Formats: sequence, structure tokens, C-alpha cells
Amino acid sequence: MLAIIGGSGLTQLANLNIIRQEVVRTPYGEPSGALTFGHLCAQPVVFLARHGYGHTIPPHKVNYQANLWALQQAKAEAIISVASVGGIRADMGPGVLVVPDQIIDYTWGRKSTFFEGGDGQVVHVDFTQPYDQALRARILRAVEAAGETAIDGGVYAATQGPRLETAAEINRLERDGADVVGMTGMPEAVLARELGIPYAAINVVVNYAAGRADSAQHISFDSIEAVLLQAMGRVRRVLDHLCEA
Ligand code: HPA
Repeated sequence: MLAIIGGSGLTQLANLNIIRQEVVRTPYGEPSGALTFGHLCAQPVVFLARHGYGHTIPPHKVNYQANLWALQQAKAEAIISVASVGGIRADMGPGVLVVPDQIIDYTWGRKSTFFEGGDGQVVHVDFTQPYDQALRARILRAVEAAGETAIDGGVYAATQGPRLETAAEINRLERDGADVVGMTGMPEAVLARELGIPYAAINVVVNYAAGRADSAQHISFDSIEAVLLQAMGRVRRVLDHLCEA
């Protein structure tokens, strides 16, 4: 079964034909909310709102371990993450969809492994390619089938939040090679890898990152809301075309 983790602006899937909801308990505590099972096009899908269905959980408080564990319990065979980001690269402005292919992790203090070492097991997963290539390709085919466009590839910088970055921090991220910046991509991606579940992301650029273009002096939350609303409609259409992709 395909799993979708929805971020800001995607706390529900309007096109999801809901069958049931399930509260899952995990050894890691509570997931962000109940899992919602349904059908998207003809396929069974499980959906989870990353920040809770009322959007009350900030990025640094999301229980990523519980979320991923719950999705594994639900027999998720692949996970598509939908997340809003700030655009660092000039061609990654508001409204642009990006299917990233790399990650740089700047988060700290998050529980970022299932392998704590307590049971005598030291495990180092390979993370050279953090996103599953076949799943990325499938997303890109769905983008095309939906008549949408997305940028194929990009480096996602995961910052701690919940505050936005300073202009100097964005300059540093750019020097590091980052193209977009968000707060939730890690440890979500690596926990999926540790569980052996293919994982890929659709990033929705909702603002230029701090210090860039119209965010030169400040980031406007009003325009973020407007872009989010419009762009998530397009993401829903892309998800609707996953079956044929
Ligand atoms: N920075 C970090 N996370 C974000 C941003 C940003 O500018 N926009 C949306 N999520």
C-alpha cells in the first residue's frame, strides 16, 4: 500500500475515498494522528497529516519515529512525503514543484534512528541516495500525466525551525549546495530508509527563502498561505495520477 505524509496545507486528501481511520500505538509514542485509509484513484492508500489534523505539531515536535513505525505497521510499501519549502535557487520560486534528489541535514536533537544500540546492534544504513529513485521517477510520471511541471532533482536542506532562517543562513545553505529549505524532511527520510520503505518527496515552494527575491527584507505569511492553497490543489491532482504512473 502507498502511504502519503501530508505537510502544511495538506492535512487532508480531498480526493481520498475514506474507508476507515485507525489510531496506532507504537513503542515510540503517539503518531501525529490517526492513519486514514482509503483509495486514491483505484489504489489503497494510507494518509497521515505530519503536523496533526488540526496542524498543531511544529516540525521539531513531530514524532517522526512513531509516524514511520505506524506506517510500517499499516504495511506501507512506499511513502510519498508532501512538504512545503522555501526556494533558494532562483528558478525555485513560489508555486514551483520540486522532486528533490538529495538532502543536507541541519536538524539537531531529534530522534533520528531506530537503532539506538541498546540491544547490542550497531547499524549504519546506506544513505548515499536518500530518496528512492524508482519512486521519484513514478512521481515525475504522475506530474506529467497530471499536465503539471516539476523540477527533477534538487538538494533539500532540513533546518530545525520552527523559526525561519536568517538571510546569512540561507547564503550558507546555498554555499553548501542546497536548493530548497524545509523543516521536516529529516529525520523522516532516514527513518523510512532504516525501515526499508522506499521514500520520496514532492516539495512545494511557497516562498523565496530569507534574503532572496521578494523575501529580501522579510517573508510574507499572507502570500505563503495563498501559494499553499493554490499549489496543494495541483499536488492533489498529481497524486490522483499516481495510479497510471
Ligand atoms: N524555510 C524553512 N522551511 C520552510 C520555508 C522556509 O523558507 N518555507 C516553507 N517551509
